[in-house]
Amino acid sequence: MACPLSDGIAEALDQENDQFTEGPGMLYGEYLRLDKILTAQRLLSAEFNKEVHDEHLFIVTHQAYELWFKQIIYELDSVRALFNSEPNGYDSLNGTSNNHTAVQKNRVPQILNESRTLEILKRLNRIVLILKLLVDQVTILETMTPLDFMAFREYLCPASGFQSLQFRLLENKLGVKQEHRVKYNQSYTRVFGRDPKAIEAIKRSEEEPSLSCLVQRWLARTPGLEPHDFDFWGKYKRSVEKLLVEQEQHARKCTKEQVRNYHLANVHSRKAIFETIFNESLHNALVSRGERKFAYAALQGAVMITLYRDEPRFSQPHQILTALMDIDSLITKWRYNHVLMVQRMIGSQQLGTGGSSGYQYLKSTLSDRYKVFLDLFNLSTFLIPRHMIPPLTKQMKTKLSVACNGWNPDDNQNNSECTLDDT
Ligand code: HEM
Repeated sequence: MACPLSDGIAEALDQENDQFTEGPGMLYGEYLRLDKILTAQRLLSAEFNKEVHDEHLFIVTHQAYELWFKQIIYELDSVRALFNSEPNGYDSLNGTSNNHTAVQKNRVPQILNESRTLEILKRLNRIVLILKLLVDQVTILETMTPLDFMAFREYLCPASGFQSLQFRLLENKLGVKQEHRVKYNQSYTRVFGRDPKAIEAIKRSEEEPSLSCLVQRWLARTPGLEPHDFDFWGKYKRSVEKLLVEQEQHARKCTKEQVRNYHLANVHSRKAIFETIFNESLHNALVSRGERKFAYAALQGAVMITLYRDEPRFSQPHQILTALMDIDSLITKWRYNHVLMVQRMIGSQQLGTGGSSGYQYLKSTLSDRYKVFLDLFNLSTFLIPRHMIPPLTKQMKTKLSVACNGWNPDDNQNNSECTLDDT
C-alpha cells in the first residue's frame, strides 16, 4: 500500500529538499533504528560454518517476544502509576515508562480517580490483546522440527529463556511472589549474578507495589463495604446463611436416601467453604498457604463488584477485574503452549540449556501458585442467585448510579489497605 504522503502533496515537494517537515527530518529506517534491529540476527550455526536455516526463525521469534514483553511492561508500569496516582496530582498518562515515579515503595495508598478507570481498562485490554498474540506465536516456532532444532541447540548453551529479565520483571510487576515460585527459580543471583543492573531492576520490581497489591488497595475501598453504613458484608453473610438453610431444607425433603445424602453433603461442603470467607482467620490461613492471594477487605470488594456489576459505578471496575483474569489466564496459556513446545522439541527427560530439569520444571510452573489474581477466578464459588443478592438502599443506589471523581474516602472507613507485607 502506498504511503499517503507519496501521493499528491509529497510529489509536489522538491525531492531534493528533504526538509518536508519541521521535525528532525528522520526517515523510516532511522526513526525505527532498523539498522540495529535488522542486524541483530546472528546465527551461531553459521559462525560454526554449519548454517541451520531454522535458527533464523528461532532468533526472530525470541526477539519479537522480547519486544512485546517490553510493550507489556510499558503498559503495566503506566497502569500501576494510574492506580497509584494522586487524586488531583501526578498524572502519568503522558509520563515515561522508565520513570513511573508514582509507583514507589511505601507510598501512602491514594484514591483512584474514577475518570482514570477507562484509561486503565484500555491499557489492560491492550495487554490482553498482546498476550493473545504471544500465545498464538508459539505455533510459528513449532514449524521447526525437533531434528532441525537439534542441529543448532548445542551452540545455545547456557543461553535460555530462563534468563529473560523482562519475563521476570513482568511476573514481579504483576505480583508473582518469590515464595510462591517453584524452588528452582527462587534465586536470581544465580541467574543474573554477573549483571548487577539486572539484579537491581529485579529487586526494584519486587519492592515496588505490584499491580496485584494496587488492585487490592483499590478493592478494599469499594463503596458499600463500610459496616456502619450499607454493610455489604454483613448483609451478604445473612443472605448466604438463608440460602444454605433453604438448600438444607430442600435436601432433607428428598425421599431417596442416596440423593438426600448427596445433597446434604454438598450443602455441608458449601457451608465450610463460605466459612473460609466469613472467618477472617480462616481466610488468612489460606493466604499464608498460598491458596488465596487477596487481603480480606480486597476479597470483599471483589465479591461486591461482581454481584452489583450492573450498577453504573461498578461497570468499569467489573471490566477491570475481568481483564485481570484474562491476563492471568493468558499467561498460563502461554506457559502451557511453551511447555508443550518444549516437550515436542526436547522431550521430557533432557535438561534445559538454562540448567533446569527442562520440561519437568516448566510443567511445575503451570500451577495456581503463579496465578496472581487467583481469587478472582474463585469468586464464582461465592456467587449467590440474583434474587438473594441484598437489595441496595436508596442511598446506595444513588451512590452507585454514576461514576464520580474517585471512591470517596468517606464512602468507606474500613481503610484496610494491603501493605507490601500483607499481600
Ligand atoms: C524451541 C523452542 C524452545 C525451547 C526448546 C525452550 C526451552 C526452554 C526450557 C527447557 C526452559 C527451562 C529453563 C532451562 O533452560 O533450563 C525454558 C524457559 C523459558 N523459556 Fe523457553 N524454549 C523455547 C522457546 C522459547 C520462546 C520462543 C520464548 C519466548 C520468549 C521462551 C521463553 C522462555 C522463558 C521466559 C522461560 C522461563 C520460564 C519460567 O521460568 O517460568 N522460550 N525454555
